[in-house]
Amino acid sequence: MPQAEHPDVSPPVDGQGRPSLLEAEHLAVRYGAVPAVRDVTLSVAAGEVLAVLGRNGAGKTTTLRVLAGLATAHHGKVRLAGRDMARVPAESRVRLGVALVPEGRGIFPGLTVEENLVMGAYQRRLSRRALRDELERVTGRFPILMSRRGQRAGSLSGGEQQMLAVARGLMSAPRVLLVDEPSLGLAPLVIEQIYMLFAALRDEEDITLVLVEQYVELVLEVADRAVVLEKGVSVLSGTAAALSASPELVNLYMTAEQKDPEQEDPEQEEGNVG
Ligand SMILES: Nc1ncnc2c1ncn2[C@@H]1O[C@H](COP(=O)(O)OP(=O)(O)OP(=O)(O)O)[C@@H](O)[C@H]1O
Ligand SMILES: [Mg+2]
Repeated sequence: MPQAEHPDVSPPVDGQGRPSLLEAEHLAVRYGAVPAVRDVTLSVAAGEVLAVLGRNGAGKTTTLRVLAGLATAHHGKVRLAGRDMARVPAESRVRLGVALVPEGRGIFPGLTVEENLVMGAYQRRLSRRALRDELERVTGRFPILMSRRGQRAGSLSGGEQQMLAVARGLMSAPRVLLVDEPSLGLAPLVIEQIYMLFAALRDEEDITLVLVEQYVELVLEVADRAVVLEKGVSVLSGTAAALSASPELVNLYMTAEQKDPEQEDPEQEEGNVG
């Protein structure tokens, strides 16, 4: 599938002319013979929320793992503030400000809430005093975690564990936080709280967010822009407002039976709607 060519300059700009903080260009990733990602291009500007949408198996998790340096692309580039990340391992990317809140949360259930949080800051080699201040600062956003600092993480509810996973990501003082399906398995009210938190992180702390989400309507309410992956290819991208209104997005998410045959367009290729 043809993709718009991106000029090889750094730092490139997004649709509104802002320089991109983190970008991926024509990524391709294979697991053995299985192509997980075939051609993904995306970018997020500083202070922006980017939603990464797509059905099961579309390549969303693999894309985030490449951005974080946990999976290797056999083709394509990742740049952070214009710098090529090809030779920068995952730990160094954390230090440069890229944090991943993984699918399934990845917390340590046998450790306490506080121990999990401290692990999020280990790259920073903080003094005890500074670490304590960071714990105060981060848990200040999560009153529930503050009151459960000494409790085993495994005893928290699903929503609390997701908040812990996000809080642990914040302990690394990221510039960009990559979050993989934060709403998975959670009740609507809890999901809403988590999304309010994401909006606050962007608006009050200027944290850039890349959110993988299957709840399309929900994430598009918070996101500035979105990219849609289909079978490992970024097929659609644009502002959240433009995508929300786009028939292409509806087409991608509706089943064949639900689609109005009049609207179907088999020639539909990558589109940029905003
Ligand atoms: N470790 C792996 N080994 C082999 N194939 C894999 C591996 N991880 C992912 N894949 C395959 O790569 C493709 C993309 O997977 P990925 O997990 O990135 O998709 P996803 O969009 O995150 O899906 P989901 O919505 O289910 O989380 C899928 O076909 C998947 O089966
Ligand atoms: Mg996934």
